[in-house]
Amino acid sequence: MSATFNFKGKSVFIVGGTSGINLGIARGFARWGAKVAVASRKQEKVDAAVAELKELGAEAYGVTFDVRDSEAVVEGFKQVSGFFGGSIDVLVSGAAGNFPAQVNDMSTNAIRSVVEIDLLGTFHVMKASYEYLTKPGASVINISAPQAFLPMSHQAHVCSAKAGVDMATRTLAMEWGGEGIRVNSIVPGPIAETEGMSRLAPTPELAKQVTKTVPLGRQGTVDDIANAAGMLASDAASYISGAILPVDGGWSQSGATYAMAILADTLNNMKK
Ligand code: COA
Ligand code: NAP
Repeated sequence: MSATFNFKGKSVFIVGGTSGINLGIARGFARWGAKVAVASRKQEKVDAAVAELKELGAEAYGVTFDVRDSEAVVEGFKQVSGFFGGSIDVLVSGAAGNFPAQVNDMSTNAIRSVVEIDLLGTFHVMKASYEYLTKPGASVINISAPQAFLPMSHQAHVCSAKAGVDMATRTLAMEWGGEGIRVNSIVPGPIAETEGMSRLAPTPELAKQVTKTVPLGRQGTVDDIANAAGMLASDAASYISGAILPVDGGWSQSGATYAMAILADTLNNMKK
């Protein structure tokens, strides 16, 4: 169920906001009265997300760029700030790529693709955003993952990249704090009906195993993550900065590692 916040008159930009968890966050802010912009690589996904946000009653706008292309990201921010007609109050950076593979089975380009999207992409988004962020008052939220602090087989590329994302969060909280910009990470647990989960738990049996490893006994919903983003962006969190916030039903206490071990066994057996 969706929480209630008031973001009327606020400008919210969600990078990677055209599907899954990040689109769920965009929907949340649209329902809470914000003006919302989203960005991702595929024009058709951007168009569909903007149409959906407008149906929820929001003024909505979309731009198309790949976070790996720093010049395109800078140009995208220029367009979005034109749409907002002012500064960005809330920025969510959540573009990411993932596939399960062992280091020995990945080419340099395979590792590069994930590190460039997740980590370098986050830097591109952070750097391009700075001049447009509301000072003081902006809330920046990076979307991380349990892989950032839990080593998982078949996830070395994601583990390394997301660990970097969280350290960028913590460092920028220091560098930008003096100007009243808060920077935090949300660490989603296993979120049902998302691309990320369908890649890491591709069969109903694996999905069931994952659910069993969550202390709260269920997979999360995109609304669970939207609610956490609403909280972090609201005045209720005005003294929270540099936090890495798991929103995972307790999964990262131990279940996440166990679930990935089951997936690793399954993938290894398939290779035999
Ligand atoms: N195992 C090993 N290598 C893999 C792989 C797998 N399962 N899947 C892709 N790769 C490799 C490719 O072979 C390629 O390497 P190569 O050039 O040496 O052959 C490299 O990764 C890049 O793949 P490509 O498809 O060209 O990259 P892309 O830039 O079009 O897409 C991805 C990036 C691979 C991350 C793609 O999965 C993606 O776009 N993901 C976004 C959605 C997503 O992952 N959502 C979940 C978020 S948690
Ligand atoms: P998703 O639906 O695939 O969302 C990824 C989004 O990023 C899409 O909008 C995608 O759109 C965009 N994107 C991907 N590569 C991009 C690039 N190079 N440049 C710009 N945009 C790009 O996946 P999801 O499962 O909801 O995951 C969303 C976030 O949550 C990710 O940061 C992920 O690491 C994190 N997370 C997910 C889970 C989970 O259970 N699903 C758990 C922990 C963390 P385009 O294809 O149009 O580019």
